[in-house]
Amino acid sequence: MRDFIEGLLQARSITNVERKLSTDSEIASVLFAFQDRSFLFSNIKESGIRVAGNLYPTQSRMKQALGNPEDQNLAGNISKAIENPSDSKGHVSGFVKSSWDHNVDADVTVLPILRHYEKDAGNYITAGIVAAKFPGTDFENLSFHRMLVLSKNKLAARIVPRHLEQISKGISGRKVPISIVIGPPPAVFLAASLQTSYGLSEYRIANRLMNGKLILSESELTDISVPVDSEIVLEGYIDFKDVTKEGPFVDLTGTYDGVREQPIITVERMHYNSNSVYQAVLAGSMEHALFMGLPQELKIRDALSKSIPKVHGVNLTPASSGYFHCIVSIDKAGDGDGKTSILNCFAASHPLKLVIVVDGDIDPFNLSEVEWALTTRFQADRGIVQINGARGSSLDPSSGKTGVTSKLGIDATLPVKEDRTKFEKARIKASSVASEVIESLRDNS
Ligand SMILES: Cc1cc2nc3c(=O)[nH]c(=O)nc-3n(C[C@H](O)[C@H](O)[C@H](O)COP(=O)(O)O)c2cc1C
Repeated sequence: MRDFIEGLLQARSITNVERKLSTDSEIASVLFAFQDRSFLFSNIKESGIRVAGNLYPTQSRMKQALGNPEDQNLAGNISKAIENPSDSKGHVSGFVKSSWDHNVDADVTVLPILRHYEKDAGNYITAGIVAAKFPGTDFENLSFHRMLVLSKNKLAARIVPRHLEQISKGISGRKVPISIVIGPPPAVFLAASLQTSYGLSEYRIANRLMNGKLILSESELTDISVPVDSEIVLEGYIDFKDVTKEGPFVDLTGTYDGVREQPIITVERMHYNSNSVYQAVLAGSMEHALFMGLPQELKIRDALSKSIPKVHGVNLTPASSGYFHCIVSIDKAGDGDGKTSILNCFAASHPLKLVIVVDGDIDPFNLSEVEWALTTRFQADRGIVQINGARGSSLDPSSGKTGVTSKLGIDATLPVKEDRTKFEKARIKASSVASEVIESLRDNS
């Protein structure tokens, strides 16, 4: 991550804020104000460690971080890496102590852990990736979990029941040894956000995205692997039987996620450098939406491409936090494919509440074009699918405590054999003179 930041600094593509700012709300305010801009904060009131935020706010910034800025198909390439992960999780050679010049007992209060929103329960680690071993294997699972600072060596982690929870069930006493990685290489950050099948280590996906160049260190207390060039590593364990109140904390939609009983992490050792950079993801920001939405996009594309000839585009709309509303542009093989695609999207991505399906000539990222398709190609009496009482997301405050939701699908595609001339967008005959006039008027406006 540091090499990437250095490159951004040289290219003046990251804003280096030298004015002294506090971890208490001040850094979060700046990140909130410019969500598409990457920041390095180099003068922190409470800590000698610098902070990076909004580091990967867009797909194009992530492609740049992966060393492939011209990549035309990020989603497709990630899917390929998931389908064909590297055989190895990366090169591991014991505990590489020299990677960090501070290898010390836990005191997380020396880190510039941010307080984000007004009513948050406290300071939260938001870019912490938990590495835990699948029981009986050499492979680690990676997943992001927000962590509330309780004391120098205690954190409360929000753990939605997925792989980490499942791992805990395979360990007697449900005390799971973990390492927490903050500021890993970009491919590891990306891979940790993916929702893969149980048993497949995200390191193997990251290693594929890095062409086999991922280098890992064992942890100091356990053999759990962490990238050697991680900015900060915390080691300890989660006790799933020892819970405390976690929250409120602002989540993806920018609303407060409530208070729950969640497991406590005990941090035993810490590893960092004098020039380490602490990474923060502002909850509810563009960056948060990108990494929550990307795994859903992969699942939606996969489900659609199995049943229709072509998927032109999938837009998980930014205003729906890149997570709840989806516009897909497709080619149909036959009538009924519009509605089947709606069902496939809902089945592939449970948080979705609204799916709009448009024909392949409509750009799903151009909301005016999508609305034009609704105006000219859609009739509510035959184009709507409503599903009640289905699984949604607890992040949607309107779905109540159960996360059960109603879903709306809109099929704005034309029947396959329909006479397209009636639906064609009219054009004016091209004229080079008119084009020149238009161009000169554009230049002068
Ligand atoms: C920035 C960010 C923050 C996240 N915060 C949490 C969280 O607090 N708790 C949680 O259970 N999942 C959180 N997630 C989602 C999981 O990390 C994600 O679903 C992950 O892929 C789960 O890994 P698994 O499939 O190995 O279980 C977050 C994801 C991102 C990108």
